[in-house]
Amino acid sequence: MTDSWSSSGLDVHLGWDPATGRTGLAAAIRAAIREGRWQPGAAVPSTRALAHDLGIARGTVTRVYADLAAEGYLKTTQGAPTRVATAGSLPQSAPRQAPRDPAPRWDLRPGRPDLTAFPRQAWLTATRRALLRTPASALGYESELGAPELRDTLAGYLARARGVVADPARIVVCHGYSHAIAVLSRALYGLGVGEMAFENPSLAMYRSIAAAQGPRIVGVPVDEHGLQVSAVDSPAVVVTAAHQFPTGVTLAPHRRTALTRWAADEGGFVLEDDYDGEFRFDRQQVGALQALAPERVVYAGTASKTLAPALRLAWLVLPRSLVEPVRAAMADSGSRPSLLNQLALAELIDSGAYDQHVRRSRAEYRARRSRLLAALPDSVRPQGIAAGLHLLLRLPPDGPSEATALAACHRRAIGIEGLGDCWMDDNRPGGLIVGYAAPPKHAFAGATQTLIEALWEITA
Ligand SMILES: Cc1ncc(COP(=O)(O)O)c(C=O)c1O
Repeated sequence: MTDSWSSSGLDVHLGWDPATGRTGLAAAIRAAIREGRWQPGAAVPSTRALAHDLGIARGTVTRVYADLAAEGYLKTTQGAPTRVATAGSLPQSAPRQAPRDPAPRWDLRPGRPDLTAFPRQAWLTATRRALLRTPASALGYESELGAPELRDTLAGYLARARGVVADPARIVVCHGYSHAIAVLSRALYGLGVGEMAFENPSLAMYRSIAAAQGPRIVGVPVDEHGLQVSAVDSPAVVVTAAHQFPTGVTLAPHRRTALTRWAADEGGFVLEDDYDGEFRFDRQQVGALQALAPERVVYAGTASKTLAPALRLAWLVLPRSLVEPVRAAMADSGSRPSLLNQLALAELIDSGAYDQHVRRSRAEYRARRSRLLAALPDSVRPQGIAAGLHLLLRLPPDGPSEATALAACHRRAIGIEGLGDCWMDDNRPGGLIVGYAAPPKHAFAGATQTLIEALWEITA
């Protein structure tokens, strides 16, 4: 990195790596503007001075300034110094990079809660309280397993709401489930687990994350009772027991017993991904599998569905034997969720506002699910409707392909996902995974109507 002090007298700390060239220089200047180091309206170093300071050709700086002027970051005037654009004319959001996945007009992407319902006021109150209570000493590097306050609170909450056998000493707070599965896979691999089984179908992203830590990944079929336990032949298996992703089936009681018996007999480990366990609509709550075998089952929960994915807060409740290996993998990963967010979540749960929000969201999503089911044409078979934030629409075997269905949705600006990507093998039946929690409340009717139009078009 080159930090430079300008020969023109302007302080131009630019964290620029010469290896990144012109694009990198433009990015460094954008960052300086966005972070307020280059103030709106202020004169920027002349191209000659900056080129001199950075030891590069003047033409390079001239081209970068021209690009940034075209993007609206800089203002050039003939015969006058180039300036940072004024606050009002700077690009509004000044994104760090173009968003890869802009929100679609009708958002039915699975795995997303209604973000407009995020309890901002309650979160603000919780954050304020947490900050006022936190001693300076807590703001250091110490809490490797997570904030003790949150781990205490989660132990009580998970026991009460999900029936988890939870002791704060076995809880690790991670930077989202993707981080949780990475550190767990790393720890298991270090203990000699060379293969991990995933449900087939399941989310490809988590399989890739686990594979990147070392273990070989294999698939285990799922039927109407959930994971086919008799087909498990790996030392570790990942299961979405309460609401299988993406089929939505619930792991049947006899399979739960069989799975925990297998784990005890074979010394296997089960990772229970309880990603939407709070959202059960029709039947009695289905408690956590972990309670049947706390020394063999790792329980994973997340705030991504109950609150918002952007918080990046998830937790593992570990068998005693895995606490130290996972702690070491956490340290190696170099990543931890923000302590203040952890403390705010603890406050939110302790105050009762979290339960209140979950109850309100559950009622809303249940109502949406009923409206969607009532509107669906008979030709598509909804599946996995008893819980969660999504349902699966199976397409008729002799009907349109998944690609046709997705194309009809995309033409109408519907964000939706197909079942196809979840399979670990080819030539499997297609379907649409409909995330009915995602649209804001006011857009739900429009999103449903537009989806129905797409379904009519392809099944007519
Ligand atoms: C199957 C499954 N597990 C876990 C998660 C939670 O992931 P994270 O905590 O990284 O947001 C999701 C989110 O979409 C999911 O679909």
